[in-house]
Amino acid sequence: MSAPKNGHESFKNLDTAAVQAGRPPVTPDGPINPPIVLSSTMHAGGPYGYMRDWNATLDSLEQAIGALEGGRCTVFSSGMAAANAIFDLFPQGKPVVASQYSYTGVAMRLKELHDLGRIELRLVDVTDDVAVKAAIAGDGNPASWAWIETPTNPMMEICDIEATATVARHYGAYLAVDNTFMTPIRQRPLELGAHLVMHSATKGLAGHSDLLMGALVTADQELAQKIVGRRVLLGAVPSAFDSYLALRGIRTLAIRVDRAESNAQFIAEKLAEHSKVRAVHYPGLGGHKNADIAKRQSDGPGFMLAFEVDGDAEAAELVCQSVELITYATSLGGVETLMERRRRWPKENSAVPENLIRVSVGIENANDIWADLDQALNATGEIANQTQPKMGY
Ligand SMILES: Cc1ncc(COP(=O)(O)O)c(C=O)c1O
Repeated sequence: MSAPKNGHESFKNLDTAAVQAGRPPVTPDGPINPPIVLSSTMHAGGPYGYMRDWNATLDSLEQAIGALEGGRCTVFSSGMAAANAIFDLFPQGKPVVASQYSYTGVAMRLKELHDLGRIELRLVDVTDDVAVKAAIAGDGNPASWAWIETPTNPMMEICDIEATATVARHYGAYLAVDNTFMTPIRQRPLELGAHLVMHSATKGLAGHSDLLMGALVTADQELAQKIVGRRVLLGAVPSAFDSYLALRGIRTLAIRVDRAESNAQFIAEKLAEHSKVRAVHYPGLGGHKNADIAKRQSDGPGFMLAFEVDGDAEAAELVCQSVELITYATSLGGVETLMERRRRWPKENSAVPENLIRVSVGIENANDIWADLDQALNATGEIANQTQPKMGY
């Protein structure tokens, strides 16, 4: 195996990086893929020695994600573990700005930290530049961090990353961007001025709905050291096997995103014309509030969309229960099309419409996906009683 590297490989094109980054050095009869190193401890004499610090398979995955996002990557055992590593760095009692819509787990955790007095949470409409600036500036008490998702989960709102980074830097705040929905193939926040990128690599990066993984990437070496320190002390380390699988998924990231995105555009346009649909939230549609910003900062609108059924919660639930090819399930970014009514989760933000369905468009044939969604939208009948999920994701 290669010696541990602290930087990141750089490639001219990201689709090439996805395929080539993080491979072992060329040696006669050496493997072309990184071996799965099932060893929590390493021989003494090197700089690391123990898997919470470093493991060769994790390192290969980190090289690949780092090359894609343009910084140094540290992987974690889930997206939430990665997010919490950063939350642990928030200075005691200082203001933190976040979107009024965020992934539920992140929103719940930030609220917990606020209620505990660990931070002063300032929630803001991230589509409103003036409000974002005011929240970061804070009337003489500027934020220490801003944490945004763009597009937001599940409302698909767009935040102007470059403008937010400029304001954050002016006030001495760090800007973190959850890039899970777009993946680096479509959006690279570090290039736009953000200090940090976070991923639930469980989703599009790994791409096959078969593991949990998180990643943090930064070009700020001091911050990178602190992040590694959080992993060492908090201990949320992914397994070598999952790291191998995630890297295997990344090899096809560019073509998966291309296909899923063109399917998503097709489905969004069909939904927008459907009589049983009240609204479609997808940055690839001209009517989207911040389609122009999305176009400027991203290389495409991505594979995620949301739509509102023309009806109430029960009508939306019936659509979800009526799909046959599409899977009614949570999560996103896998090769298969998944959809769910987000408000089925008891802790989902109550401002999210009850009739909103989030769709993670997969790489199946677009006509097949649409035929299934169309029949589900036209379905009639009673909804089946389902056990309400216990937790609030
Ligand atoms: C946008 C976003 N961020 C973070 C997370 C949390 O990631 P994980 O489930 O890998 O802990 C999720 C999970 O759904 C997500 O959708």
